[in-house]
Amino acid sequence: MGAELITDIGELTTNLPARSRITRAALIVESGRIAWLGAAADAPAADIVTSVDGRAVLPGWVDSHTHMVFAGDRSAEFQARMAGQKYAAGGIATTVRATRAASDAELATNLTRLRDEARRQGTTFLETKTGYGLDVASEERSARIAAAQADIVTFLGAHVVPDGLDTRAYLDLVTGPMLGAVAPYAQFIDVFCERGAFDVEQSREVLEAGRRAGLGLRVHGNQLGHGGGVALAVELGAASVDHCNALSDADIDALAGSHTVATVLPACDLSTREPLAPARRLWDAGATVAIATNCNPGTSYTTSMPYCVATAVLQMHLTIEEAVWAATRGGAIALGVAGSADSVGLLDVGGRADLQVLEAPSIAHLAYRPGVPLTAAVWVGGERVA
Ligand code: NIG
Repeated sequence: MGAELITDIGELTTNLPARSRITRAALIVESGRIAWLGAAADAPAADIVTSVDGRAVLPGWVDSHTHMVFAGDRSAEFQARMAGQKYAAGGIATTVRATRAASDAELATNLTRLRDEARRQGTTFLETKTGYGLDVASEERSARIAAAQADIVTFLGAHVVPDGLDTRAYLDLVTGPMLGAVAPYAQFIDVFCERGAFDVEQSREVLEAGRRAGLGLRVHGNQLGHGGGVALAVELGAASVDHCNALSDADIDALAGSHTVATVLPACDLSTREPLAPARRLWDAGATVAIATNCNPGTSYTTSMPYCVATAVLQMHLTIEEAVWAATRGGAIALGVAGSADSVGLLDVGGRADLQVLEAPSIAHLAYRPGVPLTAAVWVGGERVA
């Protein structure tokens, strides 16, 4: 296919520092990359011309935190929560049982269903995790299935201690044979540093083992109460610490003074009825903030980045521009791919053509018209996928 000119763009969000928004814009996609962008009036000729009739165009969403390799659902647990029960990490065991019992094909099909659902809502770059296998063979196959469909794979063997094992024996497994089996498929290691899962010293042990195996670090921290997850992530130079609901002033200062991205998960906060992560305070303090879905069957069964962006604006008090940046470029930084030639989370000449068109004239409509399906078209690597 030759060059495609996408023109009559009412508002083009690029995330480029010097030209983050261009009105009456156009861009050219060629060989999977952005070959040109600028004012529509200056656009060079191209083989194919697609008019978007004044709609808004922006980078595809970068969903930097999901748990999509699983089987079964936990709607009964969700209903009990809506009736007043508190979320506890114990529900993870239900999904572990269902995941171990599923075939490779069932897990891969479920992942495809969720990935495609996400794409139809504008997600063009996806991280996903293991963490519902929790034995060597099941974690290895989760990672293999994830690597076939996701852009980035994170090893989360340290999700909880599975039934029937003591913590010491399980840590030896995670940091030894399980890490060895999963590392070839993964770019990151993660740990659920929380009461009911792993404490700070156990989390440190997991992360240091992952680092020795060549993996980047990320942490599930400060979700269900204040703990040492954020401080540990900053101390070890983790790429991100995710959840960040219960933060002290010192945690916020530490994040602001670090390269560790604070990833907030608004859909999870609503579904668990936990206090929302303080995204506004994090942003104002100077921390780098990312927004992700945390798609999983327990705490956040949604693939919808638009829903997360709307919630971050309406309830976490980010501006629409901040929320869109956090859900695109912020996610790319959290995944360590911001410096790649693909320009993940940006629309830039030479970068990968991962973009979406909204059924709206501006990104403001993402929060102004919450719950309305506003994704009009999606390109991944220059190919139209929705
Ligand atoms: O990110 N917090 C830990 N892990 C998931 C929940 C997993 C589950 O309950 O199945 C999360 O919320």
